[in-house]
Amino acid sequence: MPRALEPAEPILSAEGIPYSPRYDDVYHSPEGGLAQAHHVFLGGNGLPQAWAGREQFVIVETGFGQGLNFLATWQAWRDDPQRCARLHFVSIEKHPFTREGLAQLHARLTDLLPLAGQLQAAWPEALPGLHRLVFEDGGVTLTLALGDIETVLPRLVAGADAFYLDGFAPSRNAEMWSPTVFRGLARLARPGATLATFTAAGFVRRGLQQAGFDVRKAPGFGGKWNMTIATFRPMWKARRYAPSPAAHWEVRHAIVIGAGLAGCAVTERLAARGWRVTLLDAHDGPARQTSSHRAAAMHAHISPDDSLLSRLSRAGNQYALRAWAALAAAGHPVGWHGCGVLQIGENEAEAEAQRIALDLLGLPQAFVRWMTPDEAASRHGAGVPRGGLWFQQGGWVAPPDICHAQLRRAGEAVHAQFGAHVERIRRRDDAWEAIGRDGAVLASAPVLILANAHEAPRLAPMRHQVVRRVRGQLTTLAPDQAKALGQWPDCVVTGAGYLLPRAEDGSVRVGSSYEADEGPLVARTEVHAENLKRLSGLLPGVGAAVGVMDVSRMSGYVGVRTVSHNRLPLIGQMPDEAAAAAAAPALRGAHLRDIPRMPGLYAALAYGSRGLTWAGLGAELLASQIEGEPLPLEADLADAMDPARLLLRALRHGRVVHDEGHSDGQSG
Ligand SMILES: Cc1cc2nc3c(=O)[nH]c(=O)nc-3n(C[C@H](O)[C@H](O)[C@H](O)COP(=O)(O)OP(=O)(O)OC[C@H]3O[C@@H](n4cnc5c(N)ncnc54)[C@H](O)[C@@H]3O)c2cc1C
Ligand SMILES: C[S@@+](CC[C@H](N)C(=O)[O-])C[C@H]1O[C@@H](n2cnc3c(N)ncnc32)[C@H](O)[C@@H]1O
Repeated sequence: MPRALEPAEPILSAEGIPYSPRYDDVYHSPEGGLAQAHHVFLGGNGLPQAWAGREQFVIVETGFGQGLNFLATWQAWRDDPQRCARLHFVSIEKHPFTREGLAQLHARLTDLLPLAGQLQAAWPEALPGLHRLVFEDGGVTLTLALGDIETVLPRLVAGADAFYLDGFAPSRNAEMWSPTVFRGLARLARPGATLATFTAAGFVRRGLQQAGFDVRKAPGFGGKWNMTIATFRPMWKARRYAPSPAAHWEVRHAIVIGAGLAGCAVTERLAARGWRVTLLDAHDGPARQTSSHRAAAMHAHISPDDSLLSRLSRAGNQYALRAWAALAAAGHPVGWHGCGVLQIGENEAEAEAQRIALDLLGLPQAFVRWMTPDEAASRHGAGVPRGGLWFQQGGWVAPPDICHAQLRRAGEAVHAQFGAHVERIRRRDDAWEAIGRDGAVLASAPVLILANAHEAPRLAPMRHQVVRRVRGQLTTLAPDQAKALGQWPDCVVTGAGYLLPRAEDGSVRVGSSYEADEGPLVARTEVHAENLKRLSGLLPGVGAAVGVMDVSRMSGYVGVRTVSHNRLPLIGQMPDEAAAAAAAPALRGAHLRDIPRMPGLYAALAYGSRGLTWAGLGAELLASQIEGEPLPLEADLADAMDPARLLLRALRHGRVVHDEGHSDGQSG
C-alpha cells in the first residue's frame, strides 16, 4: 500500500549545489545542472534534432529532483522552430520537493525562471500516483509519477522515444539502477528509442545491454571522462506487448454521442489536441439529462488499504481541479465552489474506521485531515454529531456550467447537433456512421465515442457489461423554509446523504436518494421526506424544524445514474465481443491487452454518482489512448475502468460462446 511520500529538503552542499542527506549526493554535477542537462541528457539523446517535425515525442526520466532536466528540455522545445507538436515528459520521483522547496532552489535560475514559476504554480500535493501537468496549451505535458520506482515503473503505460537516467550516483542509489529498472525501461521503449545517463558504471552498461539496449560510451560532462548513451535495439524478436506507438490519424475527426459531463469533457480534450468533433445529443442543448442538476459535490474517497476506488477518485479529483483551473485561466470559469467537504461516518464505528484509515495513510493535511465536531461548528457552522474527514480541496459545482465552459473552450473545433437522436451506429469504409431516426447519416468519422450513459447498450453490443439505472432525487428547500433551519454550514457536509451551502437566493439543497429506476422522472414528496431524514442525520439540530415542514412545497431535481457492476466507470476502447467469442478458447488465459477491440470505438460511460470525478480524467485517458500518448493513470487503474473487464472475466471462466454473429461493427 502506498504510504505518504516523504518530501525532499532544499539543502545546499558546501559548494552551493542542491544536496540530499538521504542519499549523501548532490542533485547535479558541480560544473552546473543546466549545462549537464544539455550535454548529457539532451545531447546524449540527439535532442532537439530527434524530435524535429514529429507529431509527438515522449521522454521518460528516472528522478525528477528539482526538474532542471525538464526545464532545460522545455526551453529547448520552445526555442526550436522544428519542435514536435506535443512533447510528453514522464518523470518518476519518490521524494518530491514541496512547492516552497522548489521555489527556493529555482530562485537561482535566471533564464529559466519564468518556466520554473509555471512549474511551481502547477506543482501537485505530495500524493502517490500520477499527476498530469499541462503547459504551452498542451504542447508540453509533464506526467509526474510520484512513488518508488519499484512500484511506479511497472505501472506506467507509455511508449518512450528517449530516456534520461538521472538517479543519484549508482553507488549511493542502487535501486534506481537495478536490472529490474532496466527491464522496466525496455518495456516502455519504442523501437530505436535512445537513452542517456551521466554514469559510465560498468554494471549499468551491462544491465542496459541485457535489457536490449545497444550501449556506447560518449564523452562525459564536467570532470567525467565518459558517460553512457544507448539505443533500444534488442537482439531478440518482438515483445509480446509492444508499447503504444504514436498514433497517426489521417482524418482527425471524431463523433461524440452525448453532451453531458462525459461527452463535453471528451469533446474538449480532443479539440485541445486539434481534433474536429461532431457532438450529437437528442436533447436541445448540452447537459439536459443527468448532468442537468446544479448541485454536484466532489471529494475523494478514503480507505485503509488505499483501494482502487480511493486511488482512482484521488486521481480524478486532482485532475478535475486542474482542468477546471485551466479552463478558468483560458477565460472559461466553471463556477467551482471550493468551500471544502466534511464527510462524517454514519455512526461512531464508521467514524473510528475513518480515523484509522487516515492514520494509516498519512496523506498530506492539505488533502485530507480529521475535523472535530467543535471545529466543524465553530469554523463552518456545521452542527454535525461527530467528527469526520475534512477535504479542504472539495466543494461543489453546477455540472451544466462545466459543460458550457468546455464547449466554449473547444470553440470552432466542435460542431454540435442538438435534437439529434442517434438510432444506431455502423462501421463503413474505415469510418463510424451515426444514423438518425429517419435513416439519414448524421455524421461519419474514424473515431466514435459513446458518452450516452445508459443508452449506450442500444447502440453497441454490451452483452458482457452490465449497466444499471439508479434513480436519484435532490430536494430544494425554499428560502423561507431554509431560514427556519437557523445556522447553516458554509461547506458541503456528506455522509448518509449530503447538503450544500446556502444558495444565493437563500434556498438550500439536500440529497439524495438512490433507488430503483421506476416511474416517470418527476420529484416525489415521499423522497423529499427521506432526504429530510438524511439531513437530520447530518445535522441533528435541525431535526425539530424539519419535522414540521411542508414537504409539498419543496422542489427537486430527479435524475438517473448509470452504474456498472462494481460502480467503476467504463472508459476505454470497446471490445469486439463477436471477435472475442470467435477466439474464445484461445483467450482463456488472456489479458485485457489481448482482447480484440472495435477499431475507433470508445466508451465514456457509467459515471454513476461520481460524474465530476470521472469526466475530466476519463476524457484525458481516452484522448491519450486515441493518440498513443502516455496514459495519465497507472496501468492497474486504467484496467479497472476498461469496458472489456467483464468480457475478460467471462472468457477466463469459459463463459463466452461463439454464437454472436459476425464482427461487422453493426448494431441497432
Ligand atoms: C440525484 C443525483 C445526484 C448526483 N450527485 C452527484 C454529485 O454530487 N457529484 C457527482 O460527481 N455526481 C453526481 N451525480 C452523478 C452525475 O450527475 C452523473 O454521473 C453525470 O451527470 C453523468 O453524466 P453523463 O454525461 O454520463 O450522462 P448524461 O448527463 O445523462 O448525458 C448523456 C447524454 O446522452 C444523450 N443521449 C443518450 N442517448 C442518445 C442517443 N441515442 N442519441 C443522441 N443522444 C443521446 C442524452 O440526451 C444525454 O444528454 C448525481 C446524480 C444524481 C441522479
Ligand atoms: C540526481 S536527482 C535527479 C535530478 C533531476 N533529474 C533534475 O533535473 O533536477 C535523483 C532523484 O532520484 C530520486 N530517487 C532516488 N531513489 C528513488 C527511487 N527509489 N524511486 C524514485 N525516485 C528516486 C531522488 O529523490 C532524486 O530526486
